[in-house]
Amino acid sequence: MEKDLFTSRINAVADKVFIERWSPRSFVPNTISELDLKKIIDAARWSPSTMNEQPWLFFTASRETSKFQEFVKCLNEGNQVWANHSSVIGFIIARKFFKKKPRENSLAEFDCGAAWMALTIQARLLGYYTHGMGGINRAKIEELFNLDEKTQKVIMGFALGKRADASALPEELRNKEIPSPREELGDIWKTM
Ligand SMILES: Cc1cc2nc3c(=O)[nH]c(=O)nc-3n(C[C@H](O)[C@H](O)[C@H](O)COP(=O)(O)O)c2cc1C
Repeated sequence: MEKDLFTSRINAVADKVFIERWSPRSFVPNTISELDLKKIIDAARWSPSTMNEQPWLFFTASRETSKFQEFVKCLNEGNQVWANHSSVIGFIIARKFFKKKPRENSLAEFDCGAAWMALTIQARLLGYYTHGMGGINRAKIEELFNLDEKTQKVIMGFALGKRADASALPEELRNKEIPSPREELGDIWKTM
């Protein structure tokens, strides 16, 4: 475990792949291999979902592609500053309706969240970090991907890459570059 960063995790008992996951903002502006990115998105594909609807759709742009800067522009300015250095920017889109029923799938967003965590953990297993972003311009994303807002919902964006030292960040972000604390287990778990 990275000792200095994780002093608040003394009571943690989960496996270290969970405890050592966090959301850095400082990324090494490297190219990710196509295979690693494929593995990371494939991990999301194997997530459970309501009636196996798999209501997720992923758009990604790697930093060496011409689309990368267009993806960056779909982030709020505060996120652009640091996410601009990541290897990949991605967006997760939910399909709002069931495929075989004319009914809204009220758990589609929840299932996208499960897929997000799967890709995040696969990323960690390969030595990468992710950082989720709700601070995105949904209208711009709908336009960029020609989405139908009646049937599709932009859920979140994410940055993916190898973590860099905090010193690479603008000063105002440097002291935020630490893992966040958590509620105590006893506060979120009532065992009977
Ligand atoms: C759906 C979602 C949206 C988020 N939006 C942003 C964001 O727009 N900007 C940002 O800097 N962090 C964002 N975060 C990161 C959270 O602030 C972070 O996950 C939380 O503080 C817990 O910290 P940790 O991931 O380092 O454990 C988001 C995370 C998630 C899961």
